[in-house]
Amino acid sequence: MNKTGTQTIETERLILRRFRIDDAEDMFRNWASDPEVTQYLTWPAHPNVDLTRMLLNDWIPRYEDGGYFNWAMKSKENGQVIGNISVVTLLEDIEAAEMGYCMGRAYWGRGLMPEALKAVMDYLFGTVGLNRIAAAHDVNNPKSGRVMEKAGMKLEGVLRQAGKNNTGVCDMVWHAALRNEWKKEGADL
Ligand SMILES: CC(C)(COP(=O)(O)OP(=O)(O)OC[C@H]1O[C@@H](n2cnc3c(N)ncnc32)[C@H](O)[C@@H]1OP(=O)(O)O)[C@@H](O)C(=O)NCCC(=O)NCCS
Repeated sequence: MNKTGTQTIETERLILRRFRIDDAEDMFRNWASDPEVTQYLTWPAHPNVDLTRMLLNDWIPRYEDGGYFNWAMKSKENGQVIGNISVVTLLEDIEAAEMGYCMGRAYWGRGLMPEALKAVMDYLFGTVGLNRIAAAHDVNNPKSGRVMEKAGMKLEGVLRQAGKNNTGVCDMVWHAALRNEWKKEGADL
């Protein structure tokens, strides 16, 4: 595994880059303050921008660590930071990652998250050299499952009452992609 950390990735409509402290306002306004965005997430919506800034102050020094992968999604269309995609768990011994992502409601339904996830998976398989990239969603949040499918992950199964988010204890649906099948299916590696 190559611990190359959070490097800038460009897609057709997005620039995926490290967070900066001055992203706090966009992050708060576009997604972190919205309880509809956080409904199926493990953290509650932020009550004020100071909390968002505090979180960014915690994240930013972690970029020194090449095993830390956490991208701000910047829209090329309007220059705003509109969401976040990151590795939430990295299992170095088996070269596996679990992904997490969220984005402002105004940007839903345009295929932006599948675009970001595909690009991040290309980077994590191709440059970092991971073997497995997985993600899980609440069974009641199927639109996140669509993101996983569109990005090329395969359904693995449902773990009953295996997660907890802002709606309570929930069944979790797991998807994953493996490096060998990723190459076979013609991703840009
Ligand atoms: C889940 C999420 C990342 C989807 O991103 P996205 O860029 O909108 O994804 P897509 O455009 O590919 O849409 C995915 C599905 O969402 C649904 N959808 C589309 N537009 C929508 C809208 N305006 N409002 C609600 N759902 C919508 C559709 O079912 C779509 O699937 P389809 O293309 O097969 O019809 C985004 O909704 C989000 O940030 N949600 C809140 C955070 C979250 O749940 N994160 C995942 C935790 S596991």
